[in-house]
Amino acid sequence: MREGRLTPAPTLPPGPSTLLPGPSTLPPGASTLPPGPRGGRFSGTRPEYAADPLSFLVRCAAEYGDVVRIAPSNYLVVHPRDIATVLVDRQGAFVKIRPGVRRRSHAGFPRAMMNSEGDDWRVKRQRLSPAFAREQVLRHAGAVEEETSRAVASWQQGQVIDVHQAMSDLTLRIGTRALLGAPLGDGAAAVKAAVDAIMRLTATPFRFPAWVPTPTNRQLARSLGRLDGLLGSLVENADAGRQERNALALLLDEDPALSAAAVRDELATLIMSGYETTADALTWTLYLLGTHPQLEARLRQSLADEDEPSLLDAVLKESMRLYPPAWVTSRVAVKESRLGDFDVPAGTTVAVSQWVTHRDGRWYPDPERFLPERWFGEPPPRHAFIPYGSGPRACIGAALATQELAGILRCLLRKTRLSLVGADAVRPRPALALQPLGVRARVDDTRGGRPGPQAL
Ligand code: HEM
Repeated sequence: MREGRLTPAPTLPPGPSTLLPGPSTLPPGASTLPPGPRGGRFSGTRPEYAADPLSFLVRCAAEYGDVVRIAPSNYLVVHPRDIATVLVDRQGAFVKIRPGVRRRSHAGFPRAMMNSEGDDWRVKRQRLSPAFAREQVLRHAGAVEEETSRAVASWQQGQVIDVHQAMSDLTLRIGTRALLGAPLGDGAAAVKAAVDAIMRLTATPFRFPAWVPTPTNRQLARSLGRLDGLLGSLVENADAGRQERNALALLLDEDPALSAAAVRDELATLIMSGYETTADALTWTLYLLGTHPQLEARLRQSLADEDEPSLLDAVLKESMRLYPPAWVTSRVAVKESRLGDFDVPAGTTVAVSQWVTHRDGRWYPDPERFLPERWFGEPPPRHAFIPYGSGPRACIGAALATQELAGILRCLLRKTRLSLVGADAVRPRPALALQPLGVRARVDDTRGGRPGPQAL
């Protein structure tokens, strides 16, 4: 990611422009470079990538193989073996945050764990891990059920809802209950406005620097300011939730005490990174079920038979295979290494794209089709399915998110029936997360009402 951009959470996939070629940082004469597209003489591959990053990356993999030089100092790795090399990184050759890049801007939350490296990162990650441990996650199951029931009860029969919006409201409430012990109340609007602005910024190829007062930059600055104030007063007044080992309690119990700014940075990034990705995964799943009514009927039946885990899990996996909320991430080589037959000079940015590897026909026959049954057969290679990443910097919230996704979906399917409206218009927006655009649904009768076409 480039410094000076308003991209507070490098842990989420970089937006389209963040992987774009800059000037080459490779030493002259580097040998055995991987193949890749040449692009225009002056613009390189930038226009193609900017116009449609998902198709561009898929095309690169199809044309050039498992390691592609998408720009002079940017590689894409496609094969699970190479993905393991980069993400698990036993040689200490790759880092997440480019050395020397300090996130200076306030919007960058420089003190947060996800924006840290090395020992600093290790200490912060260890500090937070009890909040994401199994017992803590299990304790949270009741809140998932409660909040989902509450959301369903607020919908009117016949009402058409924006599914992504509804799922975002829900996952934000659930997420803040898990992290802080209570929903954010008025602060929720500020979080959503900030994340909306970040998504808009990261989905556009050409961004103005943060100091240029564009409407989006202004919205982001305003909402981050409000969020900052809210989290600040939450920290000052907090003592509730301290019996729980939630993130807020862990941060406040640190001895010696953390600065208020450090606590705020950590909480803001945790809240933001958790709820949008989870809402995206749920919205994609509801969209896929709505467009596969027979499968949806089988899933409902399996839930009624209490045989739920297998098909429900397979549906969620298959949804995150096809529409991974984290669709690309990257590392920077800090020393020379090799990937397959190719040299990786220090300074190279290496991208791993869930979108590309999850749709690779070598691991997934008929890769474009939504086939949850595939998860009942031989599993794909370990690093061919990485919705939560892998290695030391894998998602800290994976268990929480998995439980939340299953709990919400189960509750929605039991309590309501949604029918997609205008499903043909749905498309992915590859911003910091892979957002589903245009998923709308009518709320139908839950008790015996006949589903319309494409009922969920
Ligand atoms: C479906 C939901 C989610 C998906 C798909 C997802 C995906 C990911 C991925 C792929 C990474 C690793 C990125 C990389 O390797 O560069 C990551 C990291 C991270 N995620 Fe998640 N995530 C989800 C939910 C959550 C939740 C619920 C939380 C917390 C409440 C969370 C907090 C984090 C944090 C803090 C990191 C950074 C870890 C580090 O740098 O050590 N995520 N996530």
